[in-house]
Amino acid sequence: MKILIAYGTTYGSTRSIAERIKDRIAAANIGEITIAPFDNKLSANDFDILILGSCIHMQSWISPSKKFIKRSATGLHTNPKPTWAFSVGLPPDSGVEPEAKVMEKWLRQYIPLRGHTLFQGAWKKEDMGGCFRLFFSCFGGKFEDKRKWNLMDEWADGIVQELRNDHPEILEN
Ligand SMILES: Cc1cc2nc3c(=O)[nH]c(=O)nc-3n(C[C@H](O)[C@H](O)[C@H](O)COP(=O)(O)O)c2cc1C
Repeated sequence: MKILIAYGTTYGSTRSIAERIKDRIAAANIGEITIAPFDNKLSANDFDILILGSCIHMQSWISPSKKFIKRSATGLHTNPKPTWAFSVGLPPDSGVEPEAKVMEKWLRQYIPLRGHTLFQGAWKKEDMGGCFRLFFSCFGGKFEDKRKWNLMDEWADGIVQELRNDHPEILEN
């Protein structure tokens, strides 16, 4: 069972979340995991299970992530695979659900999904150049790390459970 965990990141928090999910799923020993950033060489055809994540810019997945989704769409409709997606943004706590719905709606236009969630990521001061940092602070922007590792673990555990239910014969430890 070949599992792809692919991610699109600008400043690294989406990669850290993908790695957390990878570690959790690897501990369940349910298949061979590849973790990689989205790029032109990556193909959904090479895997049995897909876990796809991207950071959000301006209420949209970033470009390399969107490209992967769009070019995988036809293949995933003709040959569907268990697929989960996660978005990473920094909406306020009260905005997580609405933003998650916007991202999921966009994704479902292209690919069938078993599930989608939105994790809050991080803004770190050191990620930004001096001018942008000043501009950001002047307009009340806050540097914060809102990653909630327990939510990622729970989400990964849910995926493992679904896969075990689907394939008890293959996936038992
Ligand atoms: C240019 C820009 C636009 C952003 N737009 C959004 C947005 O629309 N919604 C949101 O929730 N977060 C937005 N964010 C916050 C990022 O999604 C958040 O910082 C995330 O943790 C970044 O992930 P990364 O570290 O993997 O790049 C934006 C960040 C940048 C730099």
